[in-house]
Amino acid sequence: MWENIFQAIDEQYESMVHTRRYLHQHPELSFEETETAAFIQQTYDRLGIPYTKNVGGNGVIAILKGGLPGKKVALRADFDALPIQEENEVDYKSKVNGVMHACGHDGHTAALLGLAEALLPFQDELPGTLVFVHQHAEEYAPGGAKPIIETGILDDVDAVFGTHLWVDTPTGIIQTTKGPFMAGSDRFQITIKGKGGHGAIPHQTKDAIVIASQLVTSFQQIVARRINPLDTAVLTIGTFESGNGFNVIADSAKLTGTVRTFNREVQERMIEEMEKIIKGTCTGHGADYDFDYLKGYTPVINHEKEASLILQDASKADASLKTEEVAPVMAGEDFAYYLENKPGAFYFTGAQIPGHHYPHHHPKFDFDEKALPHAAKTLIQAYRSYQEQS
Ligand code: NI
Repeated sequence: MWENIFQAIDEQYESMVHTRRYLHQHPELSFEETETAAFIQQTYDRLGIPYTKNVGGNGVIAILKGGLPGKKVALRADFDALPIQEENEVDYKSKVNGVMHACGHDGHTAALLGLAEALLPFQDELPGTLVFVHQHAEEYAPGGAKPIIETGILDDVDAVFGTHLWVDTPTGIIQTTKGPFMAGSDRFQITIKGKGGHGAIPHQTKDAIVIASQLVTSFQQIVARRINPLDTAVLTIGTFESGNGFNVIADSAKLTGTVRTFNREVQERMIEEMEKIIKGTCTGHGADYDFDYLKGYTPVINHEKEASLILQDASKADASLKTEEVAPVMAGEDFAYYLENKPGAFYFTGAQIPGHHYPHHHPKFDFDEKALPHAAKTLIQAYRSYQEQS
């Protein structure tokens, strides 16, 4: 049966390309994807597969119950686009000014819909239950994954798998890793409230530039001296704004930056240590401060057993596929939240067009459509492997 399923997915290729190109021409921003959600619903209507709409927002969740007993496994595809003006000259170019599928989520949706259609004739022979999770708003924190999970609709699911078409990776290669795979990505802003004054009379002021400068250098000691050298963390100050004139002592200074970590304890430690330094430094100078720390998505931490299934078995879905265990990447993904709740794994499906390599979120981003069946096949192979090992 599985060989026939993989063949049926290959036969969906034209249809997947068609769907992908339609979605590519009609992109919608995060939390505004009502037409895309309607398109997904129409597809399931046509296939006669039951679904729930408006899950946690614009999410659509379809269920295909196999005829044989087994586990309930969710496969996720996101479907939002980005506020980017497309610069590709292709006949499927975005028809919406300033909005573009520049991350490949159009492809994720096309692959999952194509998979659903390919599986339908095999429903009676399938073990377990497939849950197709079409998730809105991946690109914009707080994201769509969290509200979908909070509805409780996935509570009885046994495992969750998902993939991202990845243009940094050649087509035909599947990459993932056990444990931390993608970083948690946070944002902060610090405002130092000193006391301004004449550049020649410093003792009557609280110099915000001096205070902020001390913060910049002291922060570097957090990663170097407060975080275990075997853990990974980045603290970057991206902007430093202050001052109004060469002979004026600044009364305020604003710093913004980002923190990247791969585990929650390190993330909490970073916040704690930053606050300590800010508080200590400002107190020492008699100045005041505001510290706004915005936690972004948590890190994507693959479950060891499920990630191993991807690494060991992906090529069973298509003999031309190779798997690679890779180092974690610093990009973020709200797939993280599914993995906080359920066992599962996230992986990259290589989709680089030879000679056209523009990164994700670039106005000339495009991916190799030959990777669409790879994504569909490896997702259902993950489902199969999970059924067979448990
Ligand atoms: Ni993406």
